[in-house]
Amino acid sequence: MFDVDRFIAECQGASAANGSSGVLEVVARAVAAPADVLGALGEPRRAGLHVISRAADLTILNVVWGPGMSQLPHNHKMWAVIGIYTGREDNIFWRRLPGGSGRGIEAAGAKALGDRDAVPLGPDVIHSVINPIRRMTGAIHVYGGDFFAVPRSEWDPERLVEQPFDIDKALALFEESNRRSGAVARDLIGPEPQCQAPEDVAHPG
Ligand SMILES: [Fe+2]
Repeated sequence: MFDVDRFIAECQGASAANGSSGVLEVVARAVAAPADVLGALGEPRRAGLHVISRAADLTILNVVWGPGMSQLPHNHKMWAVIGIYTGREDNIFWRRLPGGSGRGIEAAGAKALGDRDAVPLGPDVIHSVINPIRRMTGAIHVYGGDFFAVPRSEWDPERLVEQPFDIDKALALFEESNRRSGAVARDLIGPEPQCQAPEDVAHPG
């Protein structure tokens, strides 16, 4: 059975002992039983970067990609391990181009990941991610540092020009996806109730 606290402890121990290769073993073992992970984390219902554990030397995220969602090319500046427990995650890998070539990067390879797949990414990897299916994809991402604190880069998806990674923009993408998939759900089940008590409007949440 997948136990979140035990998984965190195993990742921390493996990272300290063997770095990314140790963590890859832990993540691969976890997603080899995707139903157990689903049972512990729940069926993905909301796209987002859900934090399981965050420290200066290790971040563990439950990344939920919305239907059809795509994230622009970016790097991490730290090693990462990705394991899929439901759905699919298509990765495009990019390489830097010499200055003066007009574009900062070019596509260098691709890997389509599905449940039970676990892969390591080196600290210099640049990738972009697409969820190619019409339902949510759930993945465990482990990073060898503080994912939210280390300055890194993203590449404008149209011109492929390097710029500072903008975490707020990344999080807004997930929220935009939630709004869109919420709209799809409302299409399927009917409109949201229009009547809302004035006090609910005045004091949301
Ligand atoms: Fe990434």
